[in-house]
Amino acid sequence: MTEKKPGLSTRCVHAGELKDPNGSPHTPLYTTTTFAFPSTAALLDVVDGRKPGSLYTRYGLNPTVRSLEAKLASLEGAESALAFSSGMAAETALFLAHGRAGIICLGDAYGGTLELLAAQLPLLGIRTAFLLSSELERLDGLLADGYGLVFLETPTNPVLEIFDIAALAGRAHRHGALLAVDNTFASPVNQQPLALGADLVVHSATKYLGGHSDLTAGALMGSGALIDAVFGWRKNLGTTPAPEVCALLARSLRTLVVRVRQQNSSALQVAEAMARHPWVRRVLYPGLPGFPNHAVAARQMSGFGGMLTIEVDGDTATGTAVVDRLRLFAIAPSLGGVESLATQPVTTTHHGLTEAERARRGISGAMIRLSVGLEDAADLIADLEQALA
Ligand SMILES: Cc1ncc(COP(=O)(O)O)c(C=O)c1O
Repeated sequence: MTEKKPGLSTRCVHAGELKDPNGSPHTPLYTTTTFAFPSTAALLDVVDGRKPGSLYTRYGLNPTVRSLEAKLASLEGAESALAFSSGMAAETALFLAHGRAGIICLGDAYGGTLELLAAQLPLLGIRTAFLLSSELERLDGLLADGYGLVFLETPTNPVLEIFDIAALAGRAHRHGALLAVDNTFASPVNQQPLALGADLVVHSATKYLGGHSDLTAGALMGSGALIDAVFGWRKNLGTTPAPEVCALLARSLRTLVVRVRQQNSSALQVAEAMARHPWVRRVLYPGLPGFPNHAVAARQMSGFGGMLTIEVDGDTATGTAVVDRLRLFAIAPSLGGVESLATQPVTTTHHGLTEAERARRGISGAMIRLSVGLEDAADLIADLEQALA
């Protein structure tokens, strides 16, 4: 009889945890930078890869780091995972290891990702292309031209656009290209890109995986072969996270499912309340039945996440006035923490874009992006209502 795979909540608590001879119920924190061996022969076994073992923390060969990575892999249903010092570090290693034939970025991505792709990787001779969802008919032409990696976020920031992961994986694979999905907004609780056909998943673990706005980290998950190809890049870029951060992230992951499910529920309540509000022109939330691509979201997501964007009836100044009147939501970029945050994309994530480029991407000054935390939904709704009054 094959054993049933434990559920996601069980894996959040138990996957990857090391059995500790002193009885600790979870992996101890090994802060050491290096590990000692009983003999030179034993050291060479690990150095030459004949035996697994701890060696040097920057290599990631540290029990606290490896234990976290086993948990991260398990949560995305991956064979293997690597942890990084930030989400951008994970993306940099991903692009350098698997994007050298050319990278196609679909839709809106995090501003740092766009800058890395548009301004920095081309300096190394890596060609990059950008297609909005309205331009997807150009994808096959670029793939036929040899671009080897398709990269996307879904839902996107800040308009929560949904891309069909299974369909795009099929298109990439027909041309021998890989599909990598930034799953930061959804988290593995709401969306499992590898099960839908993606080859690699990347996270800013700074967001939902960390969940408390108190750590910076990244993660990359995929098949053993694809992740092995990234290992040397991380090792020599030096972007392995500190063991202290790994232990804190593993602590956070044990409560990931309960946090994200509560955030899903509260975000839906906030979205529904805002959709009824006379001063709110639009609510962008994949969980609302009228939302474009709601059907795709309902098919590929098991929850709709804690992120939504409202567009108030007015202009940029109106949006700023509403944000400045919020008392419970803090005015801050970032997302995914226990505390609710509000930000106008024109003042933070998309501040660097021209007016024309923002319009092309459907981003207006009256938009306010909300990251719904773990406060009571009724209190969050009351705060928005008093700010809009
Ligand atoms: C969707 C997404 N991906 C990647 C990143 C980069 O992550 P980090 O700040 O951990 O480097 C961010 C940061 O805001 C993000 O929102």
